[in-house]
Amino acid sequence: MSVETKENQELIVTIFKQDHFGQGIAKIGDMFVFVERGLPDETCKIQIVKKKKKYANAKIVDILTFSPYRVEAKCPYYDRCGGCQIMHEAYFQQLRFKEQKVQELLEKFTKLEDVSFFPILAQEPFSYRNKVTFHGDHGKLGIYQEKTNQVIEVDACAIADFKINQIYQKVRFFLQTHPKTTIHNLMIRTTSLGESMIALEGTIPGKDLLSDLGEVTTVYMNQQLVKGKKSITEVIFGMKFEIYPTSFFQVNYSMMLELYQLVIDFHKDKDIQTVLDLYCGTGTIGMLVSSYVEKVIGVEYEKASIVSANQCKQRNQVDNIEFIQGKVETVIDQFSNVDAIIVDPPRSGLDSYTINHILMLAPRMITYISCDPVTLARDLNFLKETYHIVEVHPIDMFPNTYHVECVCLLIKKD
Ligand SMILES: C[S@@+](CC[C@H](N)C(=O)[O-])C[C@H]1O[C@@H](n2cnc3c(N)ncnc32)[C@H](O)[C@@H]1O
Repeated sequence: MSVETKENQELIVTIFKQDHFGQGIAKIGDMFVFVERGLPDETCKIQIVKKKKKYANAKIVDILTFSPYRVEAKCPYYDRCGGCQIMHEAYFQQLRFKEQKVQELLEKFTKLEDVSFFPILAQEPFSYRNKVTFHGDHGKLGIYQEKTNQVIEVDACAIADFKINQIYQKVRFFLQTHPKTTIHNLMIRTTSLGESMIALEGTIPGKDLLSDLGEVTTVYMNQQLVKGKKSITEVIFGMKFEIYPTSFFQVNYSMMLELYQLVIDFHKDKDIQTVLDLYCGTGTIGMLVSSYVEKVIGVEYEKASIVSANQCKQRNQVDNIEFIQGKVETVIDQFSNVDAIIVDPPRSGLDSYTINHILMLAPRMITYISCDPVTLARDLNFLKETYHIVEVHPIDMFPNTYHVECVCLLIKKD
């Protein structure tokens, strides 16, 4: 049944599901309507904001029946900021949403019904991020409004750790009291050892800001080190790692430990000779796994991460690991005799050249770590003929957002 709708029209709908971005989905006749911040079972008065041939986007004008899982967001900027998308949903329900999303996507792409989906691993939904980039514009400093480059000034970010907020507030106060200062970007990172780094882009006259930032371990201005040591130090299960401004590092410390523990457990007592750790970042996973296997080779294209990986190797005197700087797709054909492969690609997942080479290397075990279940599901579909997808572990690395991390164990079929 087709129903005529047009932009700005107001209608009453009942939401039956959330899409993968956490928006509510309702139907008007045959047409799907994606309702921003709508929750399942809510009846709402909505206004159509965009109308396409087969679907429409809408915003809520009024909620007539509330979901029992709707909560007040613990952030005064939530309605405008683009950082979080599902803070209006009770945390335990956010977790159900993510579990279902992972299972649905994997089943839809792979058509497999015998995969073991483990309960999502989760901890603290606020103050968890150890890295935040704030943006500046004409004397303002804050975060971008959703889907725009408009800066919203905030007092603090609810998902950033306390120290990040403290440093941000100091820099913001400095900006407000020094009118000749311009800040384009301000990246702040912290570690569990209490160290902190800022990397700032802009024009900051004089040295006053540096004295105001007394306790910050490392300060970069316009890519130049102006205070402290070049990197900050993080510790993972007793092993120390250096983090440079451009290094990739997991943003949620406690969930990172859960993730890494799973990967260690997959490799323990398996009599594994050689492991490839592809997209290895600062080498964290390979270093941790190296105690349980004969040899590890890490591959990563970002130079600072490789520097950090080698520093860690030397500091800990680990001699059964080597790191190669290069793109996975350009170096993968130089390997042979590999027992296990770990892949942790960016959101885009694996390219077809890399997948084909992994299949040619035919390791007996693959650990696939993913931050996007859509590309994960697509890639598992290519691997499923040769590998059993034995375990899927979702991890809530990014609470209050629709993002979810997954760790999957694949074992080669006989
Ligand atoms: C999701 S991170 C994983 C890092 C690491 N496994 C960890 O837990 O910290 C992905 C990494 O892949 C690197 N990367 C992205 N594309 C790459 C490519 N084509 N070849 C090699 N490394 C790549 C990025 O620089 C980033 O460090």
